[in-house]
Amino acid sequence: TEPTTVTVECTLVLVKPDGVRRGLSGEILRRIEAKGYTLAAVELKHATPELLAQHYAEHEGKPFYAPLVEFMLSGPVLAVVAEGQGVIAGFRSLAGATDPTAAAPGTIRGDLGRDWGLKVQQNLVHGSDSPESAAREIGLWFPQTAA
Ligand code: TYD
Ligand code: MG
Repeated sequence: TEPTTVTVECTLVLVKPDGVRRGLSGEILRRIEAKGYTLAAVELKHATPELLAQHYAEHEGKPFYAPLVEFMLSGPVLAVVAEGQGVIAGFRSLAGATDPTAAAPGTIRGDLGRDWGLKVQQNLVHGSDSPESAAREIGLWFPQTAA
């Protein structure tokens, strides 16, 4: 059945420093657009410890937290607001499983993620996991356009 209401939503995507460094920003944006989502904002940014502490607040205290933050500071990230129906879950589906070794072929992490001895943190992309996370994270990375 056709949906009677179309809920257009936004999500925060980050091309992590490994993706930018490897020249995969364009390929990742291409996949987002090819799926039919719209790029509402795209900006190359250098994260700060303060920004990452807020962005990854839910992971504070976990064993991978400190190396994750250090990795996210290792180079620029491409911050993207993607827009479209179901884009929050839809982008996570495009991204694939957190661990590139386990991510299915056809996904960003499955196709492009390197799995030879690299840490899980080097998994190319971040995508918001809920409408609440998306609103919060878009506000953090694009404070001037906070919705
Ligand atoms: P998480 O939010 O669980 O994954 P996702 O990015 O798929 O939403 O974790 C945030 C990031 O932390 C994840 O992208 C990579 C890193 N991470 C590790 O390095 N080791 C781990 O065991 C987990 C769960 C995550
Ligand atoms: Mg997450």
